[in-house]
Amino acid sequence: MKLAIVYDSKTDNTKKAAEWIAEGMEKVEGVEAKAFHVNEVDEAFVTEAKGLVVGSPSYAATMTPDIHNWILSNGGNMKFEGKLAGAFATQQYTHGGGETVIQGILTIEMVKGMLCYSGGGSFGKPVIHLGPVGVNDNMEKHNGMEKYKDYFVIYGNRFAQKATELFK
Ligand SMILES: Cc1cc2nc3c(=O)[nH]c(=O)nc-3n(C[C@H](O)[C@H](O)[C@H](O)COP(=O)(O)O)c2cc1C
Repeated sequence: MKLAIVYDSKTDNTKKAAEWIAEGMEKVEGVEAKAFHVNEVDEAFVTEAKGLVVGSPSYAATMTPDIHNWILSNGGNMKFEGKLAGAFATQQYTHGGGETVIQGILTIEMVKGMLCYSGGGSFGKPVIHLGPVGVNDNMEKHNGMEKYKDYFVIYGNRFAQKATELFK
């Protein structure tokens, strides 16, 4: 079963997060996960995918214009409706708006008829409420994306487990 991740990234933090999610997804037997930069999406793969996770850096606590445009201007062409859907974010401040970015993406995914999922508390700890947020060390030297790696891998794995349960 195919699972797709589409992200925006200028300085590779969100790219790294997307790759960690794919790594977690592929731990589930039978899952082929691929991550695409928003400018290089393999539309055939996304169309066939049973799940789609969308990620963005926080830009003033909102998703980037490119991710916004991409989700808004696609849907039926890549069969978004009925796919399992998720969202993630990266940011440079602990309180940099990542959760708001995720909420914005989930809202559009719902409007597109997708089945939004994070796992929430159903797997126990770590509880990932809406989706994973990574904080880089641009501004906060005590932070850094590597510290958040496990959250992205775990999230990807939980997402893939649910997709397998629903669609296999
Ligand atoms: C135009 C712009 C606006 C940003 N706004 C925020 C913000 O509101 N909060 C925050 O924590 N980081 C903000 N950032 C930092 C990025 O969200 C952060 O460095 C992110 O990890 C970059 O992702 P990337 O490396 O995948 O491009 C902003 C960066 C840019 C370029």
